[in-house]
Amino acid sequence: MKVVVSSLPVEKLAVDLLVVPTTADWKTGVVAELDKTLRGSVIPEVRQQGFKGQDGEQALFQTHGQLPYRWILLLGIGTGDGAATWYRVAHAAATRAQELSVSQVGVALPAAHNRAATVGTVVEGMILATYRFEEFKSTNGQRKPSVERVVLMGTPSSETKEAIAQAERLAEATCYARDLVNRPAAVVTPAYLANEAKRLGREQNLRVRVLDAPALRRSRMGCILGVAQGSEQPPCLIELVYRPPRANKVVAIAGKGITFDSGGLNLKTGDSMTTMKRDMAGAAVVLGVMSAVRALGVGVEVRGYVAAAENMPSGRALRPGDVLHARNGKTVEVVNTDAEGRLVLADALSYAVEGKPDVLIDFATLTGAVRTALGTRYAAVMGTNRELVAALIAAGQACGENLWELPLVEDYRHELQSPVADLKNIGEGGAGTIIGGLFLREFTGGVPWAHIDFSSTASTDKPFACHPRGATGFGVRTTLRYLLALGKSG
Ligand code: BES
Ligand code: MN
Ligand code: ZN
Repeated sequence: MKVVVSSLPVEKLAVDLLVVPTTADWKTGVVAELDKTLRGSVIPEVRQQGFKGQDGEQALFQTHGQLPYRWILLLGIGTGDGAATWYRVAHAAATRAQELSVSQVGVALPAAHNRAATVGTVVEGMILATYRFEEFKSTNGQRKPSVERVVLMGTPSSETKEAIAQAERLAEATCYARDLVNRPAAVVTPAYLANEAKRLGREQNLRVRVLDAPALRRSRMGCILGVAQGSEQPPCLIELVYRPPRANKVVAIAGKGITFDSGGLNLKTGDSMTTMKRDMAGAAVVLGVMSAVRALGVGVEVRGYVAAAENMPSGRALRPGDVLHARNGKTVEVVNTDAEGRLVLADALSYAVEGKPDVLIDFATLTGAVRTALGTRYAAVMGTNRELVAALIAAGQACGENLWELPLVEDYRHELQSPVADLKNIGEGGAGTIIGGLFLREFTGGVPWAHIDFSSTASTDKPFACHPRGATGFGVRTTLRYLLALGKSG
């Protein structure tokens, strides 16, 4: 998608569809100009459609050859002026362009809203909303991209140019993560994730280290090995390091990379297994973030960790009752082989904290319970550091990725006590998401840490807010925005 800023007057824009976001004051500004050009036909037409400029309202009409574009779409934005409004505008513009099969879209932001940040949000939203996953369609490559060109009305400036470039990078990193999650588990194996990491390492000049199964054994990572032992796919732990000059902070980000979660011997039902190729969405966040840190000029050191394994039943599979030795020396009684994400993360977090990062964040599709607690629009965040949790919530809010904090309730910690080992991998059944967080905390070695359980938002059945069906890429933009802000605050 090509994005340009044009200072041409509205009646000269060479596009197929002109999108005009307007407030309740819709008869002024661009609409007044259009009305004049079309000899007073616009305002009656819009009024006849019952359009009042309220948030979410739309009015679509044709220009009958009197303007370079065939279609005009008015979008009501009410009084709303948060990022959510502009993502909604982008979503509506992209959806209409696809319905009308047009490839060139103009956007005339109201003068009062024509700021670099708004331009960035609209561009980010348009790229996210026009994403399609068609690699496995036999028609792949024949269809043109839905929106090829976006023309934003306004005066080109270095500030807008920078905002557009940043939006493109954020959105492309998100779409990359979506691709990884949308691809089948037969393709995206632990080895595939390792190859992706190596490719990113070459392209982005990152240091990449892959601990394969023998290296995991030498490094005493019994939990990753245990989860993977029933699978034909060897597990690995991937480390990617981005080191900018003059970094004064180190942020470690770990991702759950279960490339398929059958449940293991505690086998899932057919229904609950259908989407389990997506159980590596945490890994996709790490790779998505690492794909963009350099181009975005993030100012802090970032270390990404992916714990990659496939959870399968077989004659060699992990059994309930087995005891695993984690990298930090703690032993874990496996009571349920389907609580495997916390096991692979136990080793990854232990390993990450050995490098003494200032901050540790993990992303994991850890529990189904988070969906029960928060539904499909919020992910859960838990952590050991107020400032970190607040900064992540704020970063998420700025890009439409909602995080809600859950408490790490000390009174529930005893549920993880095991009669035979240091810990067991499940609690007594209640507060599943919190229990998952409490388990992971045992491996964070006192480093300020936040855990994001996003089983709720990693994918969507219905399109919403710039997310087509399937993987959302949730977490990539939140993390990148958090890192950008951290780099700026020094
Ligand atoms: N990957 C699942 C969590 C999940 C469930 C993600 C539904 C997306 C949609 C995880 O490994 C799992 O199986 N969790 C169990 C934990 C339980 C055994 C304590 C769960 O949520 O049922
Ligand atoms: Mn599981
Ligand atoms: Zn899982």
